[in-house]
Amino acid sequence: MCGIVGYLGHREAFDVIVKGLQRLEYRGYDSAGLMLFDGDQVTVSKTKGKVFDLKERAENANAIHGNLGIGHTRWATHGVPNDVNSHPHLSNSKRLALVHNGIIENYQSLKTTLEQRGYTFSSDTDTEVLVNLIEEIQQKEQVKLAKAVRLALNQVVGAYAIVVFDIEQPDRLVTARMGSPLAIGVGEKEYFIASDASPFIAYTSNAIYLEDGEMAVIARDQEVEVRKIKSNKEVDPFIVELELSLEEIEKGGYDHFMLKEIYEQPKAIQDTFRGRLLSDQGLIKMAGVEQHLNTFIEAKRIIIAACGTSWHAGLVGEYIFETYLRIPVEVEYASEFRYRDPVIGPGDVLIAISQSGETADTLAAIKLAKSKGAFVFGICNVVGSSIARETHAGAYTHAGPEIGVASTKAFTTQITLLTLIALKLSQAKESLSHSEIKHLTKALEAVPAKVQEVLELDAHIKAIAEAYFRAENSLYLGRGYNFPVALEGALKLKEISYIHAEGYPAAEMKHGPIALIDEQMPVFVIATRKGHYEKVVSNIQEIKSRKAKIIAIVTKGDQEVAALADHCIEIPEIEESLTPILTTIPLQLLAYYIAIMRGCNVDQPRNLAKSVTVE
Ligand code: F6R
Repeated sequence: MCGIVGYLGHREAFDVIVKGLQRLEYRGYDSAGLMLFDGDQVTVSKTKGKVFDLKERAENANAIHGNLGIGHTRWATHGVPNDVNSHPHLSNSKRLALVHNGIIENYQSLKTTLEQRGYTFSSDTDTEVLVNLIEEIQQKEQVKLAKAVRLALNQVVGAYAIVVFDIEQPDRLVTARMGSPLAIGVGEKEYFIASDASPFIAYTSNAIYLEDGEMAVIARDQEVEVRKIKSNKEVDPFIVELELSLEEIEKGGYDHFMLKEIYEQPKAIQDTFRGRLLSDQGLIKMAGVEQHLNTFIEAKRIIIAACGTSWHAGLVGEYIFETYLRIPVEVEYASEFRYRDPVIGPGDVLIAISQSGETADTLAAIKLAKSKGAFVFGICNVVGSSIARETHAGAYTHAGPEIGVASTKAFTTQITLLTLIALKLSQAKESLSHSEIKHLTKALEAVPAKVQEVLELDAHIKAIAEAYFRAENSLYLGRGYNFPVALEGALKLKEISYIHAEGYPAAEMKHGPIALIDEQMPVFVIATRKGHYEKVVSNIQEIKSRKAKIIAIVTKGDQEVAALADHCIEIPEIEESLTPILTTIPLQLLAYYIAIMRGCNVDQPRNLAKSVTVE
């Protein structure tokens, strides 16, 4: 989950690398480092902390010159975040420098062998083992860098995206990937390497995405050379033109990416259904689903596998699919599914949901389901991501880059896409009538404007945040379609404000969590008029009798809950299955403002990384 960057060209590599690492900080930000080569000397700067701290340290040491360099921003796996464990790691002779994103699983046995051969290690990392393994092979086999990297990687078990520099071949960088993302930017007499394209989009829109098991040599005044790590077979590099714009990955006047992304939701939702939703005809067009209609509608059951917020969207998907499609659906944590020998096979459909398309557990769940003969469909946001490539078919959410670590627009666009898929399949299965589908497509089309209406409650929501930002515990309750929203609201609050938050189905409260309730406890209840309204009102009465503070999300004009709650946030009237898209918005804003008032870094919460590429 670290971010890596490499540069070789005519610019000051320091600027490219520092800016690039700042763009990749969503991947990890507990320490950072870089190495530069100025044609004569190598300088290495490393520090615990953020890329900003690294920049200062390198500038103070005047270690900022060179047209070639590599850099790293870390999310610690092996070894605590400190200067020594930061990357780049150097080989014992200091000839090689290497940055790495991933985990070398057999590093302990490789380390023992290297120690027996006289190698010493200063850090606790698996990466230092890899760089010394490459050096040992270079020396023993008397081979050049690329071959040594290839031979070393053939001994490695685990996941990696790496960039390696060798002072004895200073005109090149060698890079490779297996299970961790990697893109090469191809400019005019310059090359960039990065965990995603954002570090180089300002310089070039031409990129090569390496496949798992491939490595590349980028050398001055030479074409990129790509090879298979196992067979050494040369592969024609495929250059793609990126659609990403610089504007999309900048804050655009907002204080934080999270706030920008919350506010982008009307557009992001519209982009999800653009070209797919023909509401006048009551039709849905989705090529990825159309080609596999029978597989879906004849499925014995649908399993949805995901992690975190995407798992919450999957839970909403379960309610939508079962209601509209009448096919049994199970929602699984990908991390549990992959290890519990699940009963799955031909005739089953697995839908994997992932914003990043890189989540290691979700990827493993997909591979397992495929190996057992299930049909696998992917819902991803990041185009060309590993999950998008690994699935039999899929659809993108088209939400645009999500950079804030807390997922916001990914959630609402995933629900939008799940709704589109369910409607498309209901049409084919005739589980809904044409007029029902037409009604629902119209309702979906109206969602962006209604999300905009909820966003206009920003000042009211901020005032509520003001009243509760000192709380240390909180409870989120919802029923039916809004039970997953309660989970998601609690997750948003805990991950960015560090307030303990529990999400529960409202009726379950009586089976335990009610014991937590006292006058100090804010309870956020989703009590929209459709679906279990009366039942939720009873739950609110129970909370009220225990004197907790009630913040209710209600349908516009609600009187009954308003009379009971301490605060109400009104959302527009909407079709029940679409309420999660609206009810989640105030919870995102509440979490955001509460975290800001507590002085937390909302875009980079402690211990978290955006893309969880380790299991
Ligand atoms: C929470 C959050 C995480 C992710 C989870 C899955 O705000 O961002 O819980 O939802 O790590 O990530 P993706 O969707 O990229 O697979």
